[in-house]
Amino acid sequence: MAQAPVTVTVTGAAGNIGYSLLFRIAEGAVFGPDVPVNLRLLEITPALNAAKGVAMELADSAFNTLYDVDIFDDPNKAFEGTNLALLVGAMPRKKGMERADLISANGGIFGPQGRAINDHAADDVKVTVVGNPANTNALIAAKAAPDVPNERFTAMMRLDHTRAISQLAEKVGARNEDIKKLVVWGNHSADQHPDISYTTVNGKNAVDLVDDAWVNDVFRPRVAKRGAEIIEVRGASSAASAASGAIAHSRDWVQGTPEGDFTTVGMYSDGSHYGVPEGIVFGFPAVSRNGAWEVVDGLEISEATQAGIDKNVKALQEEFAIIQSLGLA
Ligand code: NAD
Ligand code: LMR
Repeated sequence: MAQAPVTVTVTGAAGNIGYSLLFRIAEGAVFGPDVPVNLRLLEITPALNAAKGVAMELADSAFNTLYDVDIFDDPNKAFEGTNLALLVGAMPRKKGMERADLISANGGIFGPQGRAINDHAADDVKVTVVGNPANTNALIAAKAAPDVPNERFTAMMRLDHTRAISQLAEKVGARNEDIKKLVVWGNHSADQHPDISYTTVNGKNAVDLVDDAWVNDVFRPRVAKRGAEIIEVRGASSAASAASGAIAHSRDWVQGTPEGDFTTVGMYSDGSHYGVPEGIVFGFPAVSRNGAWEVVDGLEISEATQAGIDKNVKALQEEFAIIQSLGLA
């Protein structure tokens, strides 16, 4: 294995998502089978022993692509030289809560981590926030890292994206891989706007295969509230599927998205796409080229999509006002 190792920092390494995510990164699922990985695990002090147990299991797996594993409770050390940062560590919501209810519990985590990334990470660092509320936490981290370009801070909306693909595939009797060009606009919240206006199923327009009532009354609310449905049925928030989303998001960011398709990424809005104002982290259709996400422009926006975008802009601006009032940004 001739290549130099990449450094990946995962926060919340002893948590449920971490337990699934770390093994897949260690096995080469993000960077490929020829790129060795050094893992840096960040946990809170009381969970260091649990993180040590996870590291022992990683060692026991004897992955060819895993070189070193180090464990920290200090973000300034955990992000030293990091090329890829996955900010997972945060409290999950319980039944009956909305993700925005977690702002006061979790928001304070992301400023110090953003600052540590700013001061210690590698120049090419790519950051993905999974901990909820993911879009607003990504914004908090980006604002705390003035020397890192805003576009390097993303919120994971890949799980919303794959949930939407799965629901549509089941409805039309297609395979997941037959479905292209779907997008989930906006926030990783119940306000999100899953959109099949541009979607094809084996080359056919998805909108011709399903009726509007299904899209509006079944598909969209089901996808948007799938996280709550999982909590209700599983008794805990999604973990393995969230890890899969984080892997797919990171792999595509590093290795590029397939031609002829796009995905959904929570990206820092610079104000130049689809009328979304500058300064919020918003789910856009995106492709990855040469290690950078690019918003897919030029999609025709229907009245329904515009209403969905507007609703999400308002919700994210409200979340921004909350973090400002809490002194988090
Ligand atoms: P979990 O409670 O199982 O694990 C969270 C871990 O984070 C714990 O081990 C905890 O000790 C650690 N932690 C807490 N504060 C930390 C800090 N400051 N630094 C480092 N580690 C810290 O939770 P989980 O199921 O792994 O979920 C983690 C987060 O991901 C939650 O906020 C959840 O809502 C969110 N989530 C997001 C998505 C998404 O699609 N964006 C999907 C699923 C879950
Ligand atoms: C999800 O979408 O599954 C996660 O954001 C967890 C949650 O609280 O819904």
